[in-house]
This record gives sequence, C-alpha cells and structure tokens, in this order.
Amino acid sequence: INLQVELPDGSRVTLEAPTDMGLSVMEVLKANELEVPAICGGMAICATCHVEVLQSGELPELGDDEAYMLETLPHATATSRLSCQLRVTPALDGLVVRLMPEA
Ligand code: FES
Repeated sequence: INLQVELPDGSRVTLEAPTDMGLSVMEVLKANELEVPAICGGMAICATCHVEVLQSGELPELGDDEAYMLETLPHATATSRLSCQLRVTPALDGLVVRLMPEA
C-alpha cells in the first residue's frame, strides 16, 4: 500500500509499505529514515512516534494504552495516533499522516 507523510516543512513524501510483514506505521517511517525517535520501540509508552492522521480509510480502534498516552501529549489532536500501534494492513491504503513533535 501507499502512505503519505507530511514533513515538518509541509512537504509530503509517499512511502510504500508492505502489508504482509506485520509492520507498524512507525517501523515503515523509520525504515524510510524519517525522524521518528520511537524510543520505546513500539510499546506505546514513549509517544515519540506520535502522528496526526490527516486522511485515512478505516483505522483500528484506539488501544487503551495508546489513548492514555495521547491524553498526556500537549500537541495531540482529535486524530492523533501512536504510529507504532497502527499495523500496516490493506485497509490503511491512502493513509496520510503528519509527523508531530515529541511530547
Ligand atoms: Fe513508543 Fe510508539 S514507539 S509509543
């Protein structure tokens, strides 16, 4: 699938993400050398993989840990997600996310 990422300067890049490897969006971002610290390595406890979803198909429900972390973030928006908790599936095709500042 394709996903687009809006960078801090407002430009967008399109990334290709395989759906058959069980990757998270965070792992795809990192694999493309984008600036995502992801300090906790995908455990939903650091929030440094925070993204704002600008456009999407069907997203998985917010997990409890994810929702809790997002509540602690000053920059969180109504469509904020932790990219490590978003599994790359065919349903995510066309996803557009904006990289967000760390907590
Ligand atoms: Fe730490 Fe996502 S990588 S919360």
